Amino acid sequence: MKETTKTNKKDETMSLFRQGVISSDRNEAIKVISDLNERQTYTKEEILNSVILGDALKVLKKLPEEIFDMVFIDPPYFLQLPKKELRRWTVKTVVEGVDDDWDKFPSFEEYDKFIQNLLTEVKRVMKPNATIWLIATYHSIFRIGKIMQDLGYWILNDIIWVKTNPMPNWLGVRFTNATETLIWAVKDKNSKKYTFNKDYAKQFGIGKIGANVWVLPLCNGKERLKDEKEKKVHSTQKPIELLKRVILTSTNEGDLILDPVAGVGTTGYVAKALKRNFVMIEINPKYVEWIKKRFEKPLKITDKPRVSERKINQYFNLGDKP
Ligand SMILES: C[S@@+](CC[C@H](N)C(=O)[O-])C[C@H]1O[C@@H](n2cnc3c(N)ncnc32)[C@H](O)[C@@H]1O
Repeated sequence: MKETTKTNKKDETMSLFRQGVISSDRNEAIKVISDLNERQTYTKEEILNSVILGDALKVLKKLPEEIFDMVFIDPPYFLQLPKKELRRWTVKTVVEGVDDDWDKFPSFEEYDKFIQNLLTEVKRVMKPNATIWLIATYHSIFRIGKIMQDLGYWILNDIIWVKTNPMPNWLGVRFTNATETLIWAVKDKNSKKYTFNKDYAKQFGIGKIGANVWVLPLCNGKERLKDEKEKKVHSTQKPIELLKRVILTSTNEGDLILDPVAGVGTTGYVAKALKRNFVMIEINPKYVEWIKKRFEKPLKITDKPRVSERKINQYFNLGDKP
C-alpha cells in the first residue's frame, strides 16, 4: 500500500517535470514551481524549500493545513506617493521612492481586503503553536494590526526597527521617518507553546533588558541586489540582519517557514543559511529569476548581532543638534 502511494507521488512529480511546472535542473540552487490554475493541491514534500511563482491568494488555498512553524510577511506598503518627482530638502537629489505597480491599490478598502484575505489563508496553514511576523510602516501597520486582531490573531509584541540610514526627509514638513514596525503574533489567545528563544531576543534588543527596539541599517552595499545598469532590483529588499533576528528568535533548526510575498527571497535565503526549511511565494517572475540567481551564492552568517552595542550607543548620542 505504502509502495503504491510512493510510486503515485513519483509519477505525479515526473509528470509535473515534463509539463515544466517544477524546475527539473538538479543543479539549480532552489526549486522553482510555477503555479497553474489546473493544479488543485500541493504536498508538503513537493513545496519544501521552493519558491512558487504565483498569486499567494490562490496558491495558499492549495497548501496542506497546519504545516508552518513561522510566517514572515512583508506586504505591499500602499505608500500612495504623489506622482510628481520628489527632491530632497537640502541636497535636491531625486528621491527613489516605491512606485512599483505591486504597491498600488485603488483604495484603502481594496488594500484592507487584500491583507484580510492573505491573513485568512495564512492562518489555515499555520501550526496551532506557530507565530507570525508582519512588517510595515506607518502607512499601513495600524490597519494591519486591526485586521489581525479582528481575525483572532493574538499580538505578542511589536518590535520597532530603528534605521541608522533612513531616507532623508525631503520637504522639511514632518519628522524624518526612521522606523518600521514588526508585529509578532500567534494564531489566537490560547496558543501558548510557541517558540521564543529569549537569549537571542535579549542579544538583539537594545539596552540591558533587551528591549523591543532593533537598531540596524537599511539593506545596502554589497547585499543590495543591483541589475546590470546598477539599478536596485527590488525597491524594498529587506536586510539579512533583520530576517536573521526574526528567524533566530522565533524558530529552531529544521522548522518550516513561509513567506507568501517573497520579493527577492530574503526570508528563504536567510532561513537556508540558518538550517531552517522554507516555502516562498512571489507573483513577479522577474523577482523569482533573481531569487534563483541569489541562491546560487549560498549565504554565510553567524548568529551574533551584526550591529555592535557601541555603534548603537553612538547612534542614540549624536551630540548637539545642528
Ligand atoms: C514589500 S515586497 C517584499 C520584499 C521582500 N521582503 C524582500 O526582502 O525582497 C512585497 C512583494 O509582494 C509581491 N506580491 C504582491 N502581491 C502578491 C500576491 N498576490 N502574491 C504573491 N506576491 C505578491 C510583490 O511582487 C513584492 O515583491
